[in-house]
Amino acid sequence: MSDGLDGVIAAETVLSHVDGAGGRLILRGRQLEEIAGRQSLEATAAMLWHGLVDPMPDEAGVQASLGAARVEVYRSVPTLLPLVRELTLLEGLRFGLAGLSDRAERPHHLLATAAIPVFVAALIRSQNGMAPVAPDPTLGHAADFLRMIRGVEATPAETQALETYLVTVSDHGLNASTFTARVIASTQAGMISAVLGALCALKGPLHGGAPGPVLDMLDGIGGAENIRPWLETELGRGARLMGFGHRVYRVRDPRADVLKAAVAGLRGGANRIAFAEQVERAALAVLRERHPGRRLDTNVEFYTALLLEALQLPRDAFTAVFAAGRVIGWAAHILEQETNGRLIRPQSKYVGPLPQAA
Ligand code: ACO
Repeated sequence: MSDGLDGVIAAETVLSHVDGAGGRLILRGRQLEEIAGRQSLEATAAMLWHGLVDPMPDEAGVQASLGAARVEVYRSVPTLLPLVRELTLLEGLRFGLAGLSDRAERPHHLLATAAIPVFVAALIRSQNGMAPVAPDPTLGHAADFLRMIRGVEATPAETQALETYLVTVSDHGLNASTFTARVIASTQAGMISAVLGALCALKGPLHGGAPGPVLDMLDGIGGAENIRPWLETELGRGARLMGFGHRVYRVRDPRADVLKAAVAGLRGGANRIAFAEQVERAALAVLRERHPGRRLDTNVEFYTALLLEALQLPRDAFTAVFAAGRVIGWAAHILEQETNGRLIRPQSKYVGPLPQAA
């Protein structure tokens, strides 16, 4: 049996392919580097949803319908905020998504994709004692996300950086959260339920919960002289270094370099990147010494942390911001599963005691 389903093929998809040996991510036949930073989030959503929704999506249509969906979802924000005051931001987002209906009239892929930035922005503001900001349906999704968080429009460079990030993480094969979404979709439970389940799987530190802890690591190290001792101590007590290692990639995660380039264009990014690069080099060296037979390299979360920090987003919102990009892929996989798939129902191997013979 394969521990953790390592290497098991559990679905066929036309959406994305993670080439673990070659270090390539292919989305709908195109390599990530051709897409990230070069096409909008809406064009990426239209590309991933192509053939799965009716009418056939295009960039302008997705922008208009996502804008309208943000406005619709925002209506539930005043009811949501008082109910989630005692919860963490991600728990608040979970609560907000749970309040959407699988019977809603608006197409559910739009509702789910619109809901995450609308709720996340309102929750970030609420944590800081600020009133929510209503969506502007005329803006692009990434630009409006930042505007709803800040109350003012972000600079073009900031919008571009966030958009590059959201596109970069929009889909990634059968990762744990996407698999969760497909399992739920395979029971015909509905898209909102499947997205909610996927969010719960994303939350853990071994999947989408890593970038906040990456910054905690950089802060914990503090300065260049402390890098090696800090890493040795952490590994010595059995901890994992956040932002390193991957189930599929046996080389560097291609998303790391795309995000590293994106953060370099942001104000305040340069010094932090220089220090992070020092930490990265040392971490890779220590991991190679400790695991000579298993290549552990930098993953997407390492530079995600730096990019989201440079956008002045709070650490406890990082996983929820990840979800704002990944929901596009979740929705595509759910639609694909609903269209082509069978109930996903594997078997377990029983290793417990057998009943006593009578
Ligand atoms: N730091 C230290 N040791 C590690 C790390 C790490 N980041 N990653 C793997 N290892 C070790 C394991 O402990 C294991 O050691 P052992 O053989 O002595 O028990 C060995 O390397 C092999 O581990 P894998 O089988 O390759 O790990 P797996 O595929 O189960 O896990 C995972 C992949 C969860 C990403 C892991 O590398 C990890 O925990 N990384 C840190 C968390 C992280 O960055 N998560 C984000 C991933 S990207 C994403 O999901 C968006």
